[in-house]
Amino acid sequence: MKMKELLLFLSCVLCVNADALHSDITIAGCSDSDGEKMYGLDGEEKWYADFNKHTGVDAPPDFIGSFNYQEGAYEQAVSELQLCQQNLKTVRVGMKDFPAKHIVPSAVMIYTRDEVEFGEKNTLICHVTGFYPAPVNVSWTKNGQKVTEGSSINIPYPNKDGTFKQTSRLDFTPQLGDIYRCAVEHLALTQPLTKIYEVDSSAHSDPGVGPSVFCGVGLTLGLVGVAVGTFFLIKGNECS
Ligand SMILES: *[C@@H]1O[C@H](CO)[C@@H](O)[C@H](O)[C@H]1NC(C)=O
Repeated sequence: MKMKELLLFLSCVLCVNADALHSDITIAGCSDSDGEKMYGLDGEEKWYADFNKHTGVDAPPDFIGSFNYQEGAYEQAVSELQLCQQNLKTVRVGMKDFPAKHIVPSAVMIYTRDEVEFGEKNTLICHVTGFYPAPVNVSWTKNGQKVTEGSSINIPYPNKDGTFKQTSRLDFTPQLGDIYRCAVEHLALTQPLTKIYEVDSSAHSDPGVGPSVFCGVGLTLGLVGVAVGTFFLIKGNECS
């Protein structure tokens, strides 16, 4: 039971080219109830198997276009998952339910995708990283009420140190005074880690012309100072 959520048999192929311009990754893993198969590039998903919706998902945004994974990629992921879960059972017996490594998330960050303008659609992002095993659950509340509509979470992405990161998103429209909270559940946590985002009046504070006026005045005064200084320097030299 305590191994239930454990993502095991992580066969993780990481190829970094010589000058490390790009890093390509394939990850396959499973627990008793869950699994993952994903191809990624430079920290972004390219393709993953959605085992709940029984299909492969092309993850990149539309403007990049599809990576055109070959026919049968999803079916292959399913058979790999079955094999993984089979191996998990065998290993568990063989190793007498070896102790699980649990690492709590090292950081939870909450921020908005776009600069906040009251009444303009935006997306709240709750980024969780540094945990093991995958996955985390992320839930959202608005002013203390649970919200599920407009929220989504991506699949776990491996960090270089073997821990995972995951990002949950919530579509929202900023209104002054609204308080949002993302709560992160993980196997290694006794209670959820939470982060709060408050829509306050600083949200749309337009820097306006203030800074440029101050900068202009300061620069002018500085130049005048240099000119006056030079003038007196020359005058001084003439006198002596
Ligand atoms: C995440 O939520 C599911 C469904 O509510 C639950 O079964 C699972 O134990 C949760 N996982 C964690 C890590 O809290």
